[in-house]
Amino acid sequence: MRTQVAIIGGGPSGLLLSQLLHRKGIDSVVLERQTRDYVLSRIRAGVLEWGMVELLREAGVGQRMDAEGIIHEGTLLAAQNRTIRINFRKLTGKAVMIYGQTEITHDLYDARDAMGGVVIHEAEGVTPHGLDSDAPHVTYVKDGTEHRIDCDFVAGCDGFHGVSRKSIPSSVLKEFERVYPFGWLGVLSETPPADDELIYAIHERGFALCSMRRADLSRHYVQVPLTDRVEDWSDDAFWAELKRRIPEHAAQRLVTGPSIEKSIAPLRSFVAEPMRWGRLFLVGDAAHIVPPTGAKGLNLAASDVHYLYNGLLAHYQDGTPEGLDDYSRKALLRVWKAERFSWSMTNMMHRFPDQGDFGQRMQESELDYLEHSTAAQTALAENYVGLPY
Ligand code: FAD
Ligand code: PHB
Repeated sequence: MRTQVAIIGGGPSGLLLSQLLHRKGIDSVVLERQTRDYVLSRIRAGVLEWGMVELLREAGVGQRMDAEGIIHEGTLLAAQNRTIRINFRKLTGKAVMIYGQTEITHDLYDARDAMGGVVIHEAEGVTPHGLDSDAPHVTYVKDGTEHRIDCDFVAGCDGFHGVSRKSIPSSVLKEFERVYPFGWLGVLSETPPADDELIYAIHERGFALCSMRRADLSRHYVQVPLTDRVEDWSDDAFWAELKRRIPEHAAQRLVTGPSIEKSIAPLRSFVAEPMRWGRLFLVGDAAHIVPPTGAKGLNLAASDVHYLYNGLLAHYQDGTPEGLDDYSRKALLRVWKAERFSWSMTNMMHRFPDQGDFGQRMQESELDYLEHSTAAQTALAENYVGLPY
């Protein structure tokens, strides 16, 4: 088989890239290790920056998002019954969209089907070859038979544990990492959200977040030690812990119910440089991970897709190499700013085992500054709604 762009990974990055390229007549094949049902069962991000909203519209997959998504013009930060509202609209003129990653992936698969896009599921042993040559190819095994795809470029959209990043020689690749000493226990439930907006709650027992997907579907998180296992947490224990950590008015109104998904995600900051090696381009989680506190993971994947899509477009339509040559530099500039924001939000809102009294006062003081400074609120809002592409 021959294609122009071989895309490894059928998560949101890979699907969105292939959809955008297809609409401009650029051919791609997506290779995904898992089944479609498995990919669609993953409950992950829920907050979209406006840049991502516009990119999804450009890809022709904005219809259901525009009909069913919920626009949020602000968010709440709470600590000890003190609540600070960050007014995105007033401070930045922008807003965010609440629409789940699961729904986006669904819409992208439907769009790929409608256009006859090629997505190969259960592709085993996917391996890129000749990445530093002019003629790369990718091999994989499907139903026991080995296949080969020749291509011009390989897009590594295969997430943190994928094969793409590992194909870059260690003499070239530099990795930066911070692992946090806690995780987030997340629960999805068919209950109404605790409030009209998200509540980020700081508490001496640990961080908590009230989020949502729809009017009848809520997503909540509590900070837990890395030693906790999902089996340790009954639904009742989860709701009781959440209620302790969120402001009283929200706890009183909170409607609880059985969990329909429950999982623990460890928190990590990670960046791999460069994001291009020869004919390979890393995109999304394959190149970087942020702790979820800033709601940036999926949004960063979208800005990478934007830069790569435009670079490929310039290459194929005008024969200009600058967009591709500049991909890694441009993407990393935005990645590092989102890393900084996610790291600072994580530091401000979580209880660290070794923070001590000094660390505690630093957090209190940061929150107090935020409460009384429009400049501080604007900086938070500007980053939360998303820096420009
Ligand atoms: P992925 O979604 O990881 O997709 C990569 C795809 O590649 C997967 O489908 C995988 O099966 C496939 N793949 C992997 N290896 C191979 C291979 N060798 N061959 C072929 N295919 C392969 N972000 C937020 O903003 N908010 C959140 O609340 C949030 N929660 C998260 C919870 C968890 C548990 C995780 C893991 C991430 C979370 N994120 C969150 C981050 C966000 O979901 C990711 O940033 C986003 O999924 C990145 O998209 P991606 O397409 O780059 O990678
Ligand atoms: C979510 O709804 O899953 C979510 C929202 C905001 C975050 C992280 C996760 O910062």
